[in-house]
Amino acid sequence: MAQPDTRSDAVPLGLDPDWWRQAVVYQVYPRSFADADGDGIGDLPGVTSRVSYLRDLGVDAVWLSPFYPSALADGGYDVDDYRNVDPRLGTLDDFDAMVAALHGAGIRVIVDIVPNHSSNRHVWFQEALASPKGSHARSRYVFRDGLGENGELPPSDWQSVFGGSAWEPVGDGQWYLHIFATEQPDLNWALPEVREDFLTTLRFWSDRGVDGFRVDVAHGLAKDLPPVLPSAAQLAEIAKREDGSHALWDRDELEEIYADWRRVFAEYTPPRIAVAEAWVPASRRARYATALGQAFNFDLLEADFDADQFRQIISFNLAQSASSGSSSTWVLSNHDVVRHATRYGLPPRGTGEGADTLKSGTAWLLSGGEEPPLDALGGLRKARAATLLLLGLPGSAYLYEGEELGLHEVADIPADQRQDPTFFRTNGGEIGRDGCRVPIPWTVSGPSFGFGSAGAHLPQPAWFGASSVEAEAGVPGSTLELYRSALALRRRLQGDETLDWVEVGDPDAVLAFRRPGGWLVVTNLGETNIPLPEGELLLSSEALSSAELPPATTAWIRTSD
Ligand code: NOJ
Repeated sequence: MAQPDTRSDAVPLGLDPDWWRQAVVYQVYPRSFADADGDGIGDLPGVTSRVSYLRDLGVDAVWLSPFYPSALADGGYDVDDYRNVDPRLGTLDDFDAMVAALHGAGIRVIVDIVPNHSSNRHVWFQEALASPKGSHARSRYVFRDGLGENGELPPSDWQSVFGGSAWEPVGDGQWYLHIFATEQPDLNWALPEVREDFLTTLRFWSDRGVDGFRVDVAHGLAKDLPPVLPSAAQLAEIAKREDGSHALWDRDELEEIYADWRRVFAEYTPPRIAVAEAWVPASRRARYATALGQAFNFDLLEADFDADQFRQIISFNLAQSASSGSSSTWVLSNHDVVRHATRYGLPPRGTGEGADTLKSGTAWLLSGGEEPPLDALGGLRKARAATLLLLGLPGSAYLYEGEELGLHEVADIPADQRQDPTFFRTNGGEIGRDGCRVPIPWTVSGPSFGFGSAGAHLPQPAWFGASSVEAEAGVPGSTLELYRSALALRRRLQGDETLDWVEVGDPDAVLAFRRPGGWLVVTNLGETNIPLPEGELLLSSEALSSAELPPATTAWIRTSD
């Protein structure tokens, strides 16, 4: 069983209100990080037992995906009780101990908050089901009468994000809206009681020392549902306007909701911060950053390993963050997408109409990881180069557990062991996200590669051992050591949030920019070696054998200017 981390070399956190602007934030998917009690499910004492690992990795903050009581209809994003810990993951005391240990190691804590929907086991929803049509209990959610003579048809033809109808009947002619899984009823944010309750939740966790929040589906919440609902086709047309008038997404009223949140954040020193998960057109993203503090930009995560795509994305997002007053966020992997080492080992998606964006790797996953053939080594090499580029950018970097080991997506999870509702709601038409949520390997061997003393809640492949922490720690050139070196150096080198593009060779193949203090970042995304720019080589994503930068390699160089 994992032992608590008892080292006590405390690092003061300080009161800097801007600590997040260029932070490296490491996402922990708690059920798949470390299992302290040997039940196959990762838990909070497991996180506590790995604090020294996180400190040695050099991250500034940890973002925990939901650890709240949940039936796991959607990996914990179906929350039964917003102010408690799932008993399988620990207790509130365990939470406090984890925060104290992370803070003691100089690591801030961000927790996930899921305001668009609760779970169907939430006390409010249970009350709604037990209450009649028109009751106050039902008004906390989005209930509508069904169409047809006896309400036997859904109120509209809207589809849920996970497939199937977005409406579920409750047996008395009424239906409730669930934009995600059936077990995730949408809350009614027009009701002051719902708004107040979330302010209580924000204070509850802030009082326990949480430094910030990651806001799930931040572009949901506010809805405009007239008596006659628009059809899915009409909504698709309205979405093109990008003007905040869509019935379900990205409405302007969100600003007032988040203004209330900001007032709560300001009650604390340093003020709490939030990062919005908002899948909105790029033109609307800055609104969320202004309203909440930061907003994820998933553009790099959706792009190919391509100099032009990367350059445009970086320039655009730096301009966006300047206009919002926030800093940029950079992400290559998270718990919702195919790991970036794998994406880059598959054929590029291209841009424009028909480009397969978030569903990258869909065909590959559907084939059980057979087709198209994965270039595992090439993908990892590009992933390392892209990560070193990302870590050289101004703004904050969000890393996902296991990427520091160079983990690939797990494609061959048997159907009867899958957990993602996407898989079930599409009858296997989509594989879903389990492959990036497989518990991470800590040791070369053992029942669950050191994840815990027993098995793992999703099956780990035999090749995990070779990518474990034990296999990589202290090994020059390993992906873990590359991340450790990069984070330590970045801490020293990071200056103002500015970047100047530099021309080094063919711009279609090479990306180069200079940061303040003579920090030059060069990535070769082309097919041939390029001469290494002059200066002191600080770090490279691959060992260099000459004064040249090979394809799919990034170098950090200190120049004299
Ligand atoms: C976004 C989360 O990242 C994802 O995992 C979840 O399924 C949906 N929101 C619904 O909560």
